[in-house]
Amino acid sequence: MLGIPQQDTFVLQVWAHDIFRGADPILADAVERINTYGQDFMTYMADHLNKRRKSPANNDLLDLLFERYKGQPLTSDELAANFILLFAAGFETTASVISNSVLALLRNPNQLQLLREHPEVMESAVDEFLRYDGALRLVARTALEDVEMGDVLIQRGDQVFFVVLAANRDPQVFADPDRLDVTRDSKRHVAFGHGIHYCLGAPLARFEIQSAISALIRHDFALLPGAVEWKESIMFRSLERLPIVFR
Ligand code: HEM
Repeated sequence: MLGIPQQDTFVLQVWAHDIFRGADPILADAVERINTYGQDFMTYMADHLNKRRKSPANNDLLDLLFERYKGQPLTSDELAANFILLFAAGFETTASVISNSVLALLRNPNQLQLLREHPEVMESAVDEFLRYDGALRLVARTALEDVEMGDVLIQRGDQVFFVVLAANRDPQVFADPDRLDVTRDSKRHVAFGHGIHYCLGAPLARFEIQSAISALIRHDFALLPGAVEWKESIMFRSLERLPIVFR
């Protein structure tokens, strides 16, 4: 969709992966590498956009965007940065939800069974997967004015973390929230955020999760005991290792 040559995507994914690790303060030791990858990615993307401006007519998303935003005052850097976000935001997140969902199903075999017997439930089950174990733990904001929440005063300029995965386990919204229930109505989850910055890729992510889980559950598979490992991150809810065996 962005016209990026297939053979380049492997390197770009590695860069994207590391750039996103920069969101985690606990991984500050990686700062130098992240900065280098960030600069490499900016150079790559600016170059790609320049090439494509000169020779359009691929009729992909990039051409449509060029056409739509003709004459808008976006600098090359701003354009490149937004394309990097668009490219990068969809990998770690969607892959994490897919693997988190596989683990959730393996730990709740009755739900796995139910999905196998009633594939028509899958579309709404995707929302339950996102609610139960989404990929982004939190979104960050800076207060533009003083705000009182409960008995706390958030001052203008303060940074605030909204822990969306905690909101998704709010018992006032979801009954028995720690239970995976692929038949429940989970649409009110906030795994894709909320408001003006609501995830741009939500429909694509939903489609990918649905396709992947539907394909996988047609096979018989099991968890290898004791080997599940979570990534160390305050930002992402992601598995480092999920070894499964097909039977
Ligand atoms: C299951 C997978 C995904 C999850 C859990 C997820 C989650 C989120 C969340 C929580 C936000 C809001 C961030 C904020 O408010 O600060 C967001 C924004 C965004 N997402 Fe996703 N996302 C996913 C997949 C994708 C995909 C596949 C793409 C692109 C193809 C994408 C592109 C974006 C972009 C560009 C934004 C920024 C929107 C804006 O600031 O206006 N995401 N995502």
